[in-house]
Amino acid sequence: MHKPVTIVILAAGLGTRMKSRKAKVLHQAGGKTLVEHVVATALRLAPPERVFVVVGHQADEVRRAVSTPGIGFIEQREQKGTGHALMVGREALSGLDGYLTIVYGDGPLLRAETLERLIEAASASRGAGVLLSAEMDDPTGYGRVIRAAGGHVAAIVEQKAATPQQLAVREANMGIYCYRADLFWKHVDSIRPANPAHEFYLTDMVEIFNRAGHAVEALRIGDPAEVLGINNRLELAEADRLLRARKARELMLDGVTIENPETVSVDMDVRIGTDTVVGPFAQILGRTRIGEGCRIGAGAIVSDSELDDEVEVGPYTLIAGSRVERGAHVGPFARLRLENHVEAGAHIGNFVELKKTRLGAGAKANHLAYLGDSAIGPRSNIGAGTITCNYDGARKHPTLIGEGAFVGSNSTLVAPIEIGDGAYLAAGSVITENVPPDALALGRARQVIKPDWARKKRARQTRP
Ligand code: UD1
Ligand code: MG
Repeated sequence: MHKPVTIVILAAGLGTRMKSRKAKVLHQAGGKTLVEHVVATALRLAPPERVFVVVGHQADEVRRAVSTPGIGFIEQREQKGTGHALMVGREALSGLDGYLTIVYGDGPLLRAETLERLIEAASASRGAGVLLSAEMDDPTGYGRVIRAAGGHVAAIVEQKAATPQQLAVREANMGIYCYRADLFWKHVDSIRPANPAHEFYLTDMVEIFNRAGHAVEALRIGDPAEVLGINNRLELAEADRLLRARKARELMLDGVTIENPETVSVDMDVRIGTDTVVGPFAQILGRTRIGEGCRIGAGAIVSDSELDDEVEVGPYTLIAGSRVERGAHVGPFARLRLENHVEAGAHIGNFVELKKTRLGAGAKANHLAYLGDSAIGPRSNIGAGTITCNYDGARKHPTLIGEGAFVGSNSTLVAPIEIGDGAYLAAGSVITENVPPDALALGRARQVIKPDWARKKRARQTRP
């Protein structure tokens, strides 16, 4: 075990190349903001009291995006460089012993395992610490890692300041470091803004440490994609794709079948049980939890919902903020809009919309219905075309249907209304008054028959 680690996440920049009003780290990939990914990774290696985010642009919004209690924030009002971002944190950070790890808030792909290796390497080193580097085909824009004869890092040279010889170096600085905290705080004030941009470069620490007799090592990682920093929307899309591919892979290795996984979008915090099958183009989003042995049909979109085991979601069904119990069927082409609770074994069919509705165990609404602000008892049957009129233009009202009721097709239920257990509603009824248990309610005009009417009409029309 190594000494304790403090992790600082630099997230003060605006990210001009995003061409956005929103700070870069607030853009989303894999279903959450870039900064949330990095915070989640940091929290796997350090307790919240040792995780700090340097905020500047839209500081309040970034604070809000990072919801874990206990995490520290450092305000960098003016962004005067990566070194400056640390300097402004001296008061909050310099009292923390052990190691200081520095990462970027715009690098959501960095894995905790890689950071752990960096920290291990730093704690095994006798020098000031270790930086992360990668051999790149095209290192344009990155600082180059200049090695000394013994293999230690002599300096990092930024693109703009590099000689042609240095530009030919393909080993690039990933901007991720783990330094001994005591040495870092002892020497950080030696950084000078001696560059055309007048910025305080964190990269200068390498030469500063060398001058003070402390070596810096570089840990080369195999896959530079992991430290891909997001600078524009193309890179954002690429990060999103990579994160989702990583998530799908994890799920498949854990026993979830995903058909055409490259078409499926699963957010990072989703959980899915074994033997569940996810069809092509499905999207499973937010904090959704899906049980075992479920089937999520092609093109279904499930967000922030909880599905128990053996639930079947038909193709092109939308489920948001709802709970579906064991063995229920929803869809195809159904919409559970918000705060619905579908009990065990209930069936919801095509073109049925539910909003704030509880559908009892084994109840059925198989075709073309709108059920809003309603509670429907177990084993009731809701006919095709049933509409709850829950809105009077000003307020919403509830519809309560008991157990084992039968709502005939094309019924209109004008809320507030209550239908008793076992009651029958005749097809095509407009129901405006409560119906007692076991009653039959008819709310429609009586049918009229006019014998011979059509024949007489035709005869009138054919006369000259
Ligand atoms: C930096 C490194 C470079 C490295 C590259 C890897 C320096 C001087 N250069 O360059 O060697 O190859 O990262 O991506 O460090 N930030 C702040 N406050 C500031 C400045 C930056 O929080 O005052 C944050 C930014 O929001 C960003 C990150 O730090 O997330 C990196 O800053 P950026 O200016 O993009 O550095 P690079 O030019 O990429
Ligand atoms: Mg950058």
